[in-house]
Amino acid sequence: MTVMDLQQKLENIKKLFNQKIRDVKNLEVLENLRVQFLGRKSELVEFLKGIKNLTEEEKRKFGPVANQLRREMEKLMEDAKKSLKMREVGKLMEKDRIDISAPAKKISQGHLHPLTLIQRKIEDIFQSIGFEVVEGPEIETEYYNFNALNIPADHPAREMQDTFWLQTPNSKLQTPKLLMRTQTSSVQIRYAENHQPPIRIISPGRVFRFEATDQTHDIQFHQIEGLMIDKNISLANLKGVLEILFKKLYGKGVEVRFRPSYFPFVEPGVEVDMKFRGKWMEIAGAGMVHPKVLNTMKIDSRIWQGFAFGMGLERLAIIKYGIDDVRLFSSGDLRFLKQF
Ligand code: DAH
Repeated sequence: MTVMDLQQKLENIKKLFNQKIRDVKNLEVLENLRVQFLGRKSELVEFLKGIKNLTEEEKRKFGPVANQLRREMEKLMEDAKKSLKMREVGKLMEKDRIDISAPAKKISQGHLHPLTLIQRKIEDIFQSIGFEVVEGPEIETEYYNFNALNIPADHPAREMQDTFWLQTPNSKLQTPKLLMRTQTSSVQIRYAENHQPPIRIISPGRVFRFEATDQTHDIQFHQIEGLMIDKNISLANLKGVLEILFKKLYGKGVEVRFRPSYFPFVEPGVEVDMKFRGKWMEIAGAGMVHPKVLNTMKIDSRIWQGFAFGMGLERLAIIKYGIDDVRLFSSGDLRFLKQF
């Protein structure tokens, strides 16, 4: 080979290598390139091996040049390797990137039922003015639901509350007649059995009536009963307590009226109406606890007086949230429930 040929050969290697290294797309191609250009059988390594057969002058001329070329190529390979690795890391990061500005996925969570929401609000308000929250059983005896509340078996007031009676074993043991309670007023009697005045309680809970359902009636609904017994209690105290509740629950603009009414366990008795969508809606019964009931409670009516009330929880919620149909509360319809 002539000097020119040798020179040409090295230049060709260099040119080809420089071209190829520019287009390397990944580490695998790079490795192939290394084998091709710097591997044991590569042209350059063959060239270096052949140097020993050259003349002294050629050795001096091409030895350093070929070695220099090898170092240059190795350096370029090294750089290419680094930048390929960086690019791969970059790609991974791009793939796993978290876009903190993207809208979050909505996690749907359970939440409280509208009746629970309003019940808790009411409990908070009463507790803030010294009332205790107590509960009684939903399956009740005839005595607590009716007789003790001055509604004996033949009393026409029983007609007002169509009742689900439970079948009880027909045995000689005088099992009391059981029913699904029609009113939370029964809890007044139960509480008074082991508490003496002063008494301030409310009692929320489910009640049952055997009646046809429509937009404003369901066979089950909820009441919040209230009982306050102390000295010098009058209807003014009842009004005052209910006003606190209504103002806190609905704001100052709420319109309420009291009408005379009749319930066997109070005297006098009233009904409480609230304005809703321009019409009066009955939301509670109330009154001064009847002396006969105080007597059953073993409370001396010459010393103590009290008021009681029973509010319909659904109706309070209807007014609070603007709901059209009581049956929605127990429908389990998610389209309704999700709005709260
Ligand atoms: N228990 C009555 C009902 O369900 C409501 C009621 C009226 C409760 C007067 C009372 C009361 O405590 O004093 O219709």
